[in-house]
Amino acid sequence: MKRTTVTAALPYANGPVHIGHLAGVYVPADIYVRYLRLKKRPVIFVGGSDEHGVPVTIRARKEGITTQQVVDRYHALIKDSFSRFGISFDIYSRTTSATHHKLASDFFRRLYDNGKFVEQESEQFYDEQTGHFLTDRNIRGECPRCHAPEAYGDQCERCGATLSPEELINPYNAESGNPLVLKSTKHWYLPLDKDQPWLEKWILEEHKEWRPNVYGQCKSWLDGGLRPRAVTRDLDWGIPVPVEGAEGKVLYVWFDAPIGYISNTKELCDAHPELGSWETWWKDPETRLVHFIGKDNIVFHCIVFPAMLKAHGEYILPDNVPANEFLNLEGNKISTSKNYAVWLNEYLDELPNRQDELRYVLTANAPETKDNDFTWADFQARCNNELVAVYGNFVNRALQLTKKYYSGIVPECGELNDYDRQTLAEFDGVKEKLEDLLEHFKFRDAQKEAMNLARIGNKYIADCEPWKVIKTDPDRVRTIIYISLQLTANLAIAFEPFLPFSSQRLREMLNMEQFSWEDLGNTNLLPAGKQLAEPGLLFSKIEDDVIKQQTDKLAATIKANEEAAYQAPAVKDTVDFSDFEKLDIRVGTVLSCERVPKMKKLLKFRIADGLADRTIVSGISQWYEPEALVGKQVLFIANLAPRTFKNGLVSEGMILSAANYDGSISVTTVEHDVKPGSQVC
Ligand code: MF3
Ligand code: ZN
Repeated sequence: MKRTTVTAALPYANGPVHIGHLAGVYVPADIYVRYLRLKKRPVIFVGGSDEHGVPVTIRARKEGITTQQVVDRYHALIKDSFSRFGISFDIYSRTTSATHHKLASDFFRRLYDNGKFVEQESEQFYDEQTGHFLTDRNIRGECPRCHAPEAYGDQCERCGATLSPEELINPYNAESGNPLVLKSTKHWYLPLDKDQPWLEKWILEEHKEWRPNVYGQCKSWLDGGLRPRAVTRDLDWGIPVPVEGAEGKVLYVWFDAPIGYISNTKELCDAHPELGSWETWWKDPETRLVHFIGKDNIVFHCIVFPAMLKAHGEYILPDNVPANEFLNLEGNKISTSKNYAVWLNEYLDELPNRQDELRYVLTANAPETKDNDFTWADFQARCNNELVAVYGNFVNRALQLTKKYYSGIVPECGELNDYDRQTLAEFDGVKEKLEDLLEHFKFRDAQKEAMNLARIGNKYIADCEPWKVIKTDPDRVRTIIYISLQLTANLAIAFEPFLPFSSQRLREMLNMEQFSWEDLGNTNLLPAGKQLAEPGLLFSKIEDDVIKQQTDKLAATIKANEEAAYQAPAVKDTVDFSDFEKLDIRVGTVLSCERVPKMKKLLKFRIADGLADRTIVSGISQWYEPEALVGKQVLFIANLAPRTFKNGLVSEGMILSAANYDGSISVTTVEHDVKPGSQVC
């Protein structure tokens, strides 16, 4: 029987994991692995933190701590969250481990010794004062197109132009502000152009079964023609390049991280001799290698890493790479740097014991074929209308009635009628159907299938109405309950890969110590006479306030980000002092303020101006309760030509207000009370 090595992308240890990571990678990988284990197929599930690369160093500088402290903190946090969430890794290690440093270093050295790299000098931007070469994102300068002063080395955020660092005018180090010079540096490249022919054959001809999004992305990379890729970097964080003359250089994070899958397998097997040698999991052609990743990782897992494995010579290549598209959050892109996400650790704390609810919704909405959106409203609806109202309700009815009528003992089954037979028949092909979907990485459809069984059960018990029939035909009720309990036991098995926490609770309620995936579809799983345990609720409703708390939190993040991103508008053209003097700006006291019928935006002010008083109309009703402005002293333009509104209302001037970054309005007032009509000078 074939072994399967399942890997899940190593998350960067520069922040906690969020629901996008879960939906894209970890939940589907976990479902798949749990399924293989239930099928008793040999499998290992390998994970770990990706602790090298620029993202962790940026985080360290931002937080004012060392890079090691950053990765220590987030590795521990991520590992703990995964375990609380039930992601059942066989190992979750890290790329700063000694095992990994040695293995990745040896891997590079072997390719180097076998002449698999090309060496090349190139000019890169260098900060002479800090002694660092810079990555594109860390270089800033004037945009050559729109002349924004702070464009990035890869993009101008003002005009949207895609840039390369050499195009910037007066490039400087984004962090130190120091000017940059070009300096020559040597790097090692993987000549992917030479791999083009076999990659084309291997992917485009031999792996047509890969998901269309994966296959399509590979095809477009291949059609564009592969180019050599540098696998080393000038950086002081990472695995030193094990070659003389490479001081100050490290392996590119995308070179070492996927080797982390191998290192972590080695660590796992070294600690568990029963798994055999780590090499059988990576080198034996009888082993299937499956990478679970997000779509931004496709090129690395389908092209670069296979090219590395092939260049090494001893390794197998991936059998499948079921990459997902992205999950958005309430219509916006999830972003670690903008803190816009639902973080797993916070979810676990704020919605305790609701792992399966999140697993369920993330799978129901899995971005398997296109980007999808997570909303808290949908989360609540799916939990309450599907988990609670269908699955939970059915199980609860079956168990409670068993307790009430039969003291929790499975009753004898009597004669079946047509509806019974028809209901049981629905469970016939279910094992094969689920298997087919799971083996083809269609987790969303597979879970739907399991939920459909719960629907059938729920409908069955609702239609049969045992609570009524008990008065007239108690024998019939035995059969109804017997069948309902068998369906319940089947649900515990069918949901096991998807909702492991509730399946376990359900199995406990059913006293199902022994159970096997192979039993799925068997409708005599719980024998008559079997004593069941005390029933409890499988799921409970998610209340509105829980949802509101979460949406408020996201709204607060968006607001904070907008505030932080605010840029004051450019200053208007210069005016002469004599022009300024033409404006007569004065202070007035608000005598009255009221809404204007049929003109929603307007407030009508009566202003004491020290002369004859006047009426001013201002479109700020969205931001003020009229009463709140009465008695305030406001600035207004006294010599503006009067303006007549549609309804005949005349405004004699204009109240000065400030437009905030978010479009909200704040009326200007004076520091001390002054006489109405005082001029602003
Ligand atoms: N850290 C990368 C990311 O989050 C994924 C690395 S996957 C590995 O995008 F293969 F390199 F390990
Ligand atoms: Zn620009």
